[in-house]
Parts: sequence; C-alpha cells; structure tokens
Amino acid sequence: MPAVYLKEGARRLVESGLLTIYSKWVDYTVGAVRGGFADIYLGEECVGSGFYEDIGAVGVRILSGECGADPRDLIHEALDRALRLRRLLAPWDSYRLVNAEGDRLPGLIIDVYSDVVVVQTSSLGFDRHLDLVADWIEDRLEPRLVYLKNDQRSRREAGLPVERRVLRGGGPTEARILEGRAKFWVDVERGQKTGFFLDQRINRLKLGELVWSGARILDLYSYTGGFAVHALLAGAEEAVLVEESPLAVKMAERNLVVNGVRDQATIHAGRVEDFLRKTGENYDIVVADPPALIPGREHKGAGMKAYRRLYEAVARRVKPGGLLLASSCSYFLRPEEFLQLIGEAVRSAGREATILWMHGASPDHVSRPQDDFLRYLKVIIMRLD
Ligand SMILES: C[S@@+](CC[C@H](N)C(=O)[O-])C[C@H]1O[C@@H](n2cnc3c(N)ncnc32)[C@H](O)[C@@H]1O
Repeated sequence: MPAVYLKEGARRLVESGLLTIYSKWVDYTVGAVRGGFADIYLGEECVGSGFYEDIGAVGVRILSGECGADPRDLIHEALDRALRLRRLLAPWDSYRLVNAEGDRLPGLIIDVYSDVVVVQTSSLGFDRHLDLVADWIEDRLEPRLVYLKNDQRSRREAGLPVERRVLRGGGPTEARILEGRAKFWVDVERGQKTGFFLDQRINRLKLGELVWSGARILDLYSYTGGFAVHALLAGAEEAVLVEESPLAVKMAERNLVVNGVRDQATIHAGRVEDFLRKTGENYDIVVADPPALIPGREHKGAGMKAYRRLYEAVARRVKPGGLLLASSCSYFLRPEEFLQLIGEAVRSAGREATILWMHGASPDHVSRPQDDFLRYLKVIIMRLD
C-alpha cells in the first residue's frame, strides 16, 4: 500500500479528527501518486487512509481511521450513511446530500434538485472516483440527470481542471424544485454554486412565517428571488428585488411567474450600493443576504467595515416595528463578531433591535464539532423599533 508520512506537528490535527491535512504537514511519501489512495502515518504508526492530494494547499484527505482500507468500500459506506441521514433530516425534493467533512467525505459535495443531482469535488481523489459516485447516485436515486459542476474558483486556484459536464442521463440542466409552498427553477449549469443557495432554505421558510399580510419587502442581493417569493406567498403585498447578475434576474422573473406573484414584484437589475444611494424609500421588511464580503483572512478588516456599512444602511430602511433579516456567509466573520457588528450597526442607525431568530445553514448541511469552517452561515431576523 502506498504511504504518506506526516510531520509530528500534524498529530494534534489528526487526533482532533480533522480530515483535510495541509501539504505543509506532509513529510514524505512512499509509492503515493497524486489523487491515489494511501495509508497515512505519523512516525511508525499508521493512523488511517485517504487520498494523497498535493493540490494547492491540500496535502491529504483522510477518509478513514482504518489502515489498508478499500476506498470504494469507504465511499459507498459514507454515501449510504449520508442518504440515510437525509431521509431523516431532509425529506424534501431538494437538499444537500453530501456535505464534505460533515459526511466524512472531505472534498465532495452532492446536491439534489428534484430529478437533477449535482456533484462538485475539490479533490483529485474524488475526481478519480467520479464513476463510482455517479453509479451510486444512479442506483440509489434514479435521477434524470447527474451533472458535474467542477467550476469553482478554488479548483482553478489549486490547478485542478475546471469542467462542467453530464455524468449520467440527459435532458435540460434545469430543475423545478419545491421549498415549502414555493416553486423555484434552478439552473445547475449556469447558476451560482451548484445552482441554488440550498443553505438558506430554513431561513427563507422562517421569514415566510414572520411576514404579515400587506407588508412591503425589499430583497437585496436577491439571486433568483428566494426570500421575495416566500414573502409574497405568505401574504406580502409587494416585493422589490435588487440583483446584479443578469442570469439571476432572469431566473427571478421566471420564479415570480411560476408562483403567480409576478405582478406584485419589481426587479432592479443592478448593484445594491447604487440602489440604496438612489432611492430613499423605507420598507416593512428588508433582507440583506450579500455574497461573502470577507473572502479570505487577509480581507477581514475591509470586509468587516463593508458589513457594518451595509447593515447600518439597511437598518435605516426598515420602518418602525418592521423586520430586518441580515446574513453573512463569510467564515472569517465568526458568529460572536457577527452579532457584535450587527448590534453596533443597528445602534448607529438609531434603532433598537429585538432578535426573533438566529440560525446557520439548513440542517441537511451537516457538520462535525471540529468542522468549524462548514459553519460559515449566520442569519439573524430582528424587529427594529
Ligand atoms: C448569497 S447570494 C443571495 C442568495 C439569495 N438570497 C437566495 O436566497 O437565493 C448573493 C447574491 O448577490 C449578488 N450580488 C453580489 N454583489 C452584488 C451587488 N453589489 N449588488 C447586487 N447584487 C449583488 C450575487 O449575484 C448573488 O446572486
């Protein structure tokens, strides 16, 4: 069996259960090839087995604490386990089936959108096992289409091939999904991430519960209209959506139509900053779900300022007694920092906040205690007086 020997400094990482070990902790290898399976050693002791990656910063992806294991068996077992968990946690037509480390499959994401399944990897080892993964999906889920969406920036940066292609089946690369009462079209080929922000599902449904009849909602960074559609179906009278991506705007339009609420919505195709500068209106409910404003540790200072500016600006647009939903998907803004920043921004806007809801990603985005980086999403809904 090929072997990867880790430096002594990696011991605390392996012992704490981390499954992705950086290249800087790899001492030397014996017979291991990039993307191949190997036993992993700390000194003389074999501590598990996994993929030898040597891709970007990633040295090893650990799949098991067992040595001499067969990767095919490990992947099958982990996939079966992930599916059993989702039948319990996410009995919906669309859900995250595999959440990397959370499902002990570091480097693998699988999202289900009704009859379309999307696979995304950030691992050379999983790239080499795509057939096995696609066969398993076909066998267990019998979807119309299995699609590979390996076009994330991190792959490009790590030097992994960037590609999008059909793995199994055929037909359109679009699916229509159900989220509570709302229907959404998802374009898995051209949409962001794997096509939809499945992580926000629980928060979109919560907002729907809190909306009152006749409310006016401003959905900033609306993507394909998720929050706005839920609010309108829950009785809001009017929604204003702001989104800069032309494709997302088109899909939002389609989603408003398919839910029968197109007449109650206005879409501003453009930047949120410009919209807020040019308009002075206030709303009963404001949603601010921006992209990650702190994309890396080195951007933390500037990103925190950007978040504070945004949250303060949106707090000013909420009518007295109205709701503000503020969100951050930047891992580098930790939950306690998020809360403190929100508190400061709301007070600077001269408002008093009562927290009605705080949550992370939907429960299908499972994580283990040590997988802090999987808990990047923070969402708060406040009543502002
Ligand atoms: C996290 S997503 C929003 C997801 C959405 N709330 C949902 O539930 O599906 C952020 C969105 O903001 C858009 N975006 C990024 N920067 C923007 C800007 N400056 N102005 C307007 N939209 C922007 C992106 O195109 C993306 O669709």
